[in-house]
Amino acid sequence: MRHIATLLISLSVLLNGCFGGSDDDPQTLAEQWNTPDKQWTETELKQLSKGQNLYKATCAGCHLASGEGQLTIGAPALKGNHLLTGDLQQAIDTVRNGRGTMPAFDNALTDDKLAAIMSYVSNAWGNSRGDIVQTEGFAH
Ligand code: HEC
Repeated sequence: MRHIATLLISLSVLLNGCFGGSDDDPQTLAEQWNTPDKQWTETELKQLSKGQNLYKATCAGCHLASGEGQLTIGAPALKGNHLLTGDLQQAIDTVRNGRGTMPAFDNALTDDKLAAIMSYVSNAWGNSRGDIVQTEGFAH
């Protein structure tokens, strides 16, 4: 039984990976992100979606997919974090250079990927930046 369950799970993961691309389709993204106050363009939606995928792969292990952070390992909540809706310099510095037990991501993330992640975290979970983040203006 156990083997069959494992097989079924593997199969569904595999199929989802191949055919489950609906998370990225413009209609689904628009439903996920648009609010009465903010209608994102298709290009912006793609950037948010890319940021979400990168966030899940790179950051959620500590800050959680819900953005609520984990007190036990000292990872602060990003949900409702004022750094992300204010001047982003400090948040970007932390991601590039690390701080305390948070590792540095400067080598792991291109500017383009960093911009996508910052766009996601500053607009997800009710964070209301209302804009896509460009990283050019931020000092290293
Ligand atoms: C290994 C666990 C870990 C991973 C992975 C991680 N972080 Fe962190 N993060 C932390 C910890 C711990 C802190 C608190 C650092 C300190 O001030 O001592 C932190 C702090 C931050 C802060 C500053 C928050 C504040 O209120 O000061 C931001 C922004 C942040 N992380 C974003 C990210 C992003 C974006 C990623 C993915 C690219 C990421 N983190 C990946 C553990 C992690």
